[in-house]
Amino acid sequence: MSERTRFDLSDGDIPSAWFNLMPDIVQAGMQPLPPLSPATKLPIGPEDLTPLFPMALIGQEVSTDPWIDIPGPVIDVYRLWRPSPLFRATRLERALDTPARIYFKYEGGSPAGSHKPNTAVPQAFYNKEAGINRIATETGAGQWGSAMAMACRFFELDCTVYMVRASFEQKPYRRVFMELFGASVLASPSETTNSGRAILAEHPDSTGSLGIAISEAVEDAATHEDTNYALGSLLGHVLLHQSVIGLEAQKQMEMAGERPDVVVGCVGGGSNFAGLSYPFMAGRLRGETPQMRFVATEPAACPTLTKGVFAYDYGDTAQIAPIVPMYTLGHGFVPAPVHAGGLRYHGDAPSLSLLVREGHMEAKAYTQNAIFEAATLFASTQGIVPAPEPAHAIKGAIDEAIAARESGQERVILFNLCGHGHFDMQAYDDYLNDRLPEVEFDPAEEESALAGLPEVPVG
Ligand SMILES: Cc1ncc(COP(=O)(O)O)c(C=O)c1O
Repeated sequence: MSERTRFDLSDGDIPSAWFNLMPDIVQAGMQPLPPLSPATKLPIGPEDLTPLFPMALIGQEVSTDPWIDIPGPVIDVYRLWRPSPLFRATRLERALDTPARIYFKYEGGSPAGSHKPNTAVPQAFYNKEAGINRIATETGAGQWGSAMAMACRFFELDCTVYMVRASFEQKPYRRVFMELFGASVLASPSETTNSGRAILAEHPDSTGSLGIAISEAVEDAATHEDTNYALGSLLGHVLLHQSVIGLEAQKQMEMAGERPDVVVGCVGGGSNFAGLSYPFMAGRLRGETPQMRFVATEPAACPTLTKGVFAYDYGDTAQIAPIVPMYTLGHGFVPAPVHAGGLRYHGDAPSLSLLVREGHMEAKAYTQNAIFEAATLFASTQGIVPAPEPAHAIKGAIDEAIAARESGQERVILFNLCGHGHFDMQAYDDYLNDRLPEVEFDPAEEESALAGLPEVPVG
């Protein structure tokens, strides 16, 4: 009998509530530190956040409830692509000649091509409910901007996207995708905001970074009464919304009669990996599955978890976003323009950073050529062309499968294929024609970026 390779849920299996890991983190003895106001360096209150976010999302940011109901209109939109499929990659297993069984959750079938609509849709919904007219946001690879543009269209909001210049130039069709949904797209740094103009005055050729684009979008929202800001990663409410990935995957792994030994994902700000892994992480923190491993993967050009420091740092380059406790390379660090634009961020989500610091999650960094080699093997065996960001997760999963082969042990590997790479052909062209530079992380640059950290101890 041939092995089953696809595990599908039905409409009724779309989760009706999001899962919040914070109560388990506290119960396990870890102490999350509060975000601080960039102005006072004191713990932030709801009033500091209301110029940027609707109250419903601020409430989710600080919630200690393990479950938060998903509003009906959000589930109605989720139905367009959820539940997403879980596959077993038997053809990849055979190519690797491994005793490991490799499963992946595929989020690339969403309309925007990644996991990002899972949070864009509720963010648009809550902003509309709060009477907001326009969303200002940033995008790296263009995936988040595409998701937000679509969600804004569904809930009749205007949308301004500050797109990191490196991606703006590499991916013109992502810009068109956003414009098709009615969004205005600006290359960041732009001349539209004070923070953009300040960067351009000093670095006229700046390729931009997520940190800079966030500064521009936050400034835009904070200076316009009818406009709010939306962030595609990092914050607690974003990770919360992404939990639909892991909740579905838990059911699907049960259908397969398996429990993962190791869960792998790529980390830009942490949302897709938290989304897949936190429902499983709860088992580890509760002592039910203490041996389950978690591997976060990132680019060697922006190695936040593997080479950064755990410190309080600004979420953006211009120091106007909240200060949060996280692994960081310094808010002034501008990563080399690698193709995985969504992973070019100086920090990582506070809860995920804490799990890494406390040894519940491992971290690995990979170079561009290594991840495109893994992505090409994956496409050659499974047929799906991955985005460069999840290509890091594929590389992590392949390494786990090779380790299983070398030790002669079975291993169940689950990873998140959080987006397709159909807009990333320039990146594949560069890889296939040997034009990808092996960008090395420059510790000297990081050192100067770290010199600007706010002086707040993390205990
Ligand atoms: C396809 C894709 N994967 C991963 C990421 C990284 O973000 P996160 O770590 O929040 O999932 C991005 C961010 O833009 C992305 O577009």
